[in-house]
Amino acid sequence: MLEIKDLHVQFNSRDHEAVSGVTLTIHDGEILGLVGESGSGKSVTAMSIAGLLPRKQCKLSGDVLLDGQDLLHAQRSELRRLHGRKIGVVFQEPMSSMDPLMRVGTQIGETLRIHQPDMPKEERHRLVYEAMRDVELPNPEETYRKYPHELSGGQQQRAMIAAAIVSRPSLLLLDEPTTALDVTIQAQILELLKKLNRETGISMLFISHNLNVVRKLCKRVAVMQKGKLVETGTTEDVFFRPQHPYTQKLIESIPTRHGKEVR
Ligand SMILES: Nc1ncnc2c1ncn2[C@@H]1O[C@H](COP(=O)(O)OP(=O)(O)OP(=O)(O)O)[C@@H](O)[C@H]1O
Ligand SMILES: [Mg+2]
Repeated sequence: MLEIKDLHVQFNSRDHEAVSGVTLTIHDGEILGLVGESGSGKSVTAMSIAGLLPRKQCKLSGDVLLDGQDLLHAQRSELRRLHGRKIGVVFQEPMSSMDPLMRVGTQIGETLRIHQPDMPKEERHRLVYEAMRDVELPNPEETYRKYPHELSGGQQQRAMIAAAIVSRPSLLLLDEPTTALDVTIQAQILELLKKLNRETGISMLFISHNLNVVRKLCKRVAVMQKGKLVETGTTEDVFFRPQHPYTQKLIESIPTRHGKEVR
C-alpha cells in the first residue's frame, strides 16, 4: 500500500544526506518496525511520508506512493488533503503535539473540521466519540470537554491516537509513541495499537529505539544506519538470524532481564 523507492533527503545545512536511497514497502494491514541508532534517519523517513519536511530547507528525490498516489511530488493542497485523510501521525511527546488551549474533543475532531469542512457538526461529534471509544478514553462526554493538561500522559497519548485515526486513514505513522511513557502505560498503548491494527486493519510504521517492543508488536522490521536501510526482514529473521553486522550488534545490545536472555 505504501511504497518508498530510492528516497533521498539532503538538508541544505548538512554535507551528508539524512536519508540515502531508502526503498521500503509497507504492506496492507501490517505493522512495520523501523529501528536504528539515533540520527540514522528514521524520523526524516517518516516525515517524508507525512509531507512534514520543511521543503525549502532540503532536497528530496525518489518516490513515495500511497495506494499508487504520489506523495512526494504532489501539489501542496493535494498533499494536505491526502495527509489529513489517508495518513495519521503520532509523535513521542503528546503534550507538545497538543494545543494546550483547545478542548480534547475539539482537538481530536480538528482533521475532520479542516479536511471535511462540509461535514455536519453532529456527524463530526459522532466520529470523535467513536474514535475516543476506539482508543478507550474513559468517560468520553467528560473527556471531550477537558483540556490536555487535565489528562494523564497515557490518556494524552490515547487522545493523540484518536486524533490520528478520526478520519480513518489507511496508514498510521508512529514515531517513538511510547518512549515518554512509563513502562505500564507503554504496555497499555502497545496493546491498544495491536487492537486497532487487528480490528480496523490500519497499516502502521512503528519507529522505536526499544527493540523488545518492536519484537512484540511487529511482524516485519527494517533497520537503518546512517541514512541507509541495511536490513529488512521478518521479525523472526532479523532478531534470530541478523545478516548485517550492524543489525547483529544492535541485537546483541538488547538489555536482558535478570541477566537472562529474553530472546
Ligand atoms: N530540520 C533539519 N535540518 C537539518 N538536519 C536535520 C533536520 N532534521 C533532521 N536532521 C538530520 O538528519 C539526520 C537524521 O535525523 P532523524 O531525526 O531522522 O534521526 P532518527 O533516526 O529519527 O534519530 P532519533 O532516534 O534520535 O530520533 C540527522 O543527522 C539529523 O541531525
Ligand atoms: Mg527520530
